[in-house]
Amino acid sequence: MIKGNRQIQLLFYSFLFLCGVSAQPISVTVHVDKPGPAISPSMWGIFFEDINMAADGGLYAELIKNRSFEFNSPLMGWTEHRTAAGDGTILVLNQSAENANNPRFIRLTHFSDNPYGLSNEGFRGMGIKAGETYHFSVWGRPVWSDSAIPGTEAALALRLELRTPDGQVIGTGRLVLNQPPGGWERDTVSFTATATAPKAQLYIFIEGRGSIDLDMFSLFPQHTWNQRPGGLRADLVQLLADMHPGFIRFPGGCIVEGRDLSNRYQWKKTIGRIEDRTVMINRWNTEFAHRLTPDYFQSFGLGFFEYFQLAEDIGAEPLPILNCGMACQFNTAEVVPLGDLDPYIQDALDLIEFANGDQTTKWGALRTALGHPAPFHLKMMGVGNEQWGPQYIERLRIFSAAIKTRYPEIRLVNSVGPDPSGERFDFLNDTLRALHADILDEHYYRKPDWFLQNAARYDHYDRNGPTIFAGEYAAQSDKTVSPTNRNTWECALAEAAFMTGLERNADVVRMASYAPLFAHVDGWQWTPDLIWFDNLHAYGTPDYYVQKLFANNRGSTVIPITHMDQPLTGQDSLYASACIDNATSEIIIKLVNSSSYSKDIILRLDGVRGLPPTAKFTVLTATRPEATNSLDSPMAVSPVNSTIYCKGKTIAQNIGASTFCVIRIKI
Ligand code: AHR
Repeated sequence: MIKGNRQIQLLFYSFLFLCGVSAQPISVTVHVDKPGPAISPSMWGIFFEDINMAADGGLYAELIKNRSFEFNSPLMGWTEHRTAAGDGTILVLNQSAENANNPRFIRLTHFSDNPYGLSNEGFRGMGIKAGETYHFSVWGRPVWSDSAIPGTEAALALRLELRTPDGQVIGTGRLVLNQPPGGWERDTVSFTATATAPKAQLYIFIEGRGSIDLDMFSLFPQHTWNQRPGGLRADLVQLLADMHPGFIRFPGGCIVEGRDLSNRYQWKKTIGRIEDRTVMINRWNTEFAHRLTPDYFQSFGLGFFEYFQLAEDIGAEPLPILNCGMACQFNTAEVVPLGDLDPYIQDALDLIEFANGDQTTKWGALRTALGHPAPFHLKMMGVGNEQWGPQYIERLRIFSAAIKTRYPEIRLVNSVGPDPSGERFDFLNDTLRALHADILDEHYYRKPDWFLQNAARYDHYDRNGPTIFAGEYAAQSDKTVSPTNRNTWECALAEAAFMTGLERNADVVRMASYAPLFAHVDGWQWTPDLIWFDNLHAYGTPDYYVQKLFANNRGSTVIPITHMDQPLTGQDSLYASACIDNATSEIIIKLVNSSSYSKDIILRLDGVRGLPPTAKFTVLTATRPEATNSLDSPMAVSPVNSTIYCKGKTIAQNIGASTFCVIRIKI
């Protein structure tokens, strides 16, 4: 019925618009006196996955790629430099018996007086900033030498040069290797860059004649997030912190599942000394033939301890997702026999102890030893990523029983598969509801129209069933996984319209996150993505500003907002939600006009004595549906703030074509 009316209204307004006749203002009522459900503090969050070089080459600020020679091709990313044939040699050694986690290292031998060494290309180059201090470190073990480094006791040194692609040297350092032959030692040196370059490389020359074993090369900027040594890229974390996300889901995504089980994410291998974290191929390395990324591996420098720390830093609830004994069903679909699930379940139990256990527990003690005696206050955990079928239910039952027996307070996130409808979805939705699941994780990568048409999706969901986590969604300008997908304004606006429906149903939908989060402009596999970056800069897409506006205007209690007594779910191409923010005593109204003509709206607030003279008005819009942001125009589509006027209990406001706006009124 509504749909029929909507089409007639649309035709009518289009007709008026074409005739140049302005339509009557649309009357919208905000029922301040009818407060609805509370909005979860963790309603709007973020989804992190190491896809598109989001971790190594992205958030994790390490500049050296393949620092420990553990990629499948041990010297990938490295280039040897010599003047003449006999100047020196590089040998790749493997000592898996002594060091199973990090078996390879190189032996660099220098025979002549010519410069000899190697360079590292970084992750599509290294982003270097003028005036920034860089900390270089390496594990070294001298083998022999027959020279002396002038002015020192040492026989060998490493000369470091940061060079631009055209050969300009923009930073130099010198590391004198003082240690006697035989033992491994970590040496460090810091130096300052003299110029900015987006794609520099690090050259390392050996000084003196001799031979040295080298491993775990590292180069970090001084200015990481919170100035943590070996930490995260500050500009990228800042973009996350600015969203004030309610939760952060990590570490994915399909990366949790792995292409096969051996390639699954195992959190215990990602904590402790970085030298002991075993490098593994990233599953996105070979996922798409059209976007092969042969140099994509996981160093796990950003591991589970760092994820928890990041969550704490940005005030987000941690939401780890663990493998449930199933590899990616789009790939091998390997499963662990039901009788062999114990180690997987133990990983889940131990993770809860790692996050929350006190120092008398094994894993709580480890967290303390890593520098965090206080608990991370883990409250929820995902079991499986995007699994489906009876094989998932069988494994989930065993997992859930074990976790709930030991930790009944932990709420579990369960998958309802990769699609928001269809046979796989229906089976899981029905089964998991019958099993009284806590939280269902729904995913939708769909065209903008789907988002517009589904703004009322949750209006009729069971209020007493599991709550919903809209765990992965993004409007696709083209087909899902098509490399031509763009973060267009049309997509972002459709997401905003849909999100008004999530907010209106905040009793059912308790969490939501756009996916994927990050993409390196030279190293991506999947598009669209919320935040794009190169080695020096980053920008938020129009979708990012939609997410940010929702998260920064979360409010605490839903209030109805209606047109002709109906929630605005697309009538006249209008979508709306409203809430009260108890902390600031403000009414927050979110309105989306998805049509290509502006609308005059009369907003009436019922249940208030009166309104202040003005309200805050934030507008996000673009003149073309295909508008996007970019490194050159990072703020082309971004919010603009202004003031609007109230009269009595009403606000008369023109809402521009193709616009998402937020109104905040103090009451
Ligand atoms: O967000 C990209 C991928 O989409 C995720 O890894 C997966 O869960 C989904 O299929």
